[in-house]
Amino acid sequence: MRKVIGIDLGGTKINGGIVDESGNILKKITIDTNIEGGRKGVLDGIKYIVRELKNGEDIEAIGLGTPGFIDVEKGEVIFHGGNIPNWAGVNIKKELASEFKDIPIIIENDANVATICEQWLGSGRNLNSFVMITLGTGVGGGIWTKDERIWRGNNYQGAEFGHSILYPNGRQCNCGQRGCAEQYISGNGIEKSFYEKGNKKMSGVDIFKNSEDDPICKMVVEEFVDDLSIFLITLKNIFDPEGIVIGGGVINSKEYWWDKMISSYEKNCNNSKGTKILPAEYLNDSGMIGAGKVAFDYINMDF
Ligand code: BGC
Ligand code: NA
Ligand code: ZN
Repeated sequence: MRKVIGIDLGGTKINGGIVDESGNILKKITIDTNIEGGRKGVLDGIKYIVRELKNGEDIEAIGLGTPGFIDVEKGEVIFHGGNIPNWAGVNIKKELASEFKDIPIIIENDANVATICEQWLGSGRNLNSFVMITLGTGVGGGIWTKDERIWRGNNYQGAEFGHSILYPNGRQCNCGQRGCAEQYISGNGIEKSFYEKGNKKMSGVDIFKNSEDDPICKMVVEEFVDDLSIFLITLKNIFDPEGIVIGGGVINSKEYWWDKMISSYEKNCNNSKGTKILPAEYLNDSGMIGAGKVAFDYINMDF
């Protein structure tokens, strides 16, 4: 059986596993991202996971998904406006290659690998084209084109849906712009909306749970639903894909918002039946599995 390592680097956790050619996870390790340790702390965490997984196993390649615009040829983070401090400029491929010498390494954007996972095994598998939006700590995007490719764009910025401006002159984003979608429809964005309304803190999960009884939570979720549905209409108008797949941690609370969001979308969109809106099938492991798939594609020269 052929095996690779797939790793998903997030602002909170690093999730790594041994993945086979059918997408099965044979072994898995999750650790906290050492944000306080800075760039070195984060890299040490990734290396630790590779070491533990590789130990005694015949691994053919390593794939890693990370936030940021990623030069996939060089394996370098060329810009990062999200949640990992001092991440722009790091050449992850070189860093890993200095320890794991004889093994092919490929680095991709985290939302792109999630998109690749959904295309391979999940909600995107029967769609001829789709875009994916991930609602997590940040907001990521991926474009799967009709000729069966990920669209990486001219600056490896394909597809940074989270930094599309939703509110002109709105909340300051880590990327330097104001009013980015990431500041509103991510987990962090929802928490900010709640805080702005009452000067109190609540986790995104609790905001959704309380949204039937608590008037402030209700208002925050209504705004989220409207913002997201409007954003989907924009995506539909730009890409006209067969489907839009919504993933990321916020999907775990979908019982509290999905139906409302679909009604808002149907009410406001000029052609709401033209595109299927689907929840992702793979949540926490999509990045790891997609990174594994990218590693296989890389060594099979289908990249
Ligand atoms: C980054 C993207 C990433 C997304 C989700 C955004 O802040 O710019 O590259 O895909 O967060 O992690
Ligand atoms: Na992306
Ligand atoms: Zn931004």
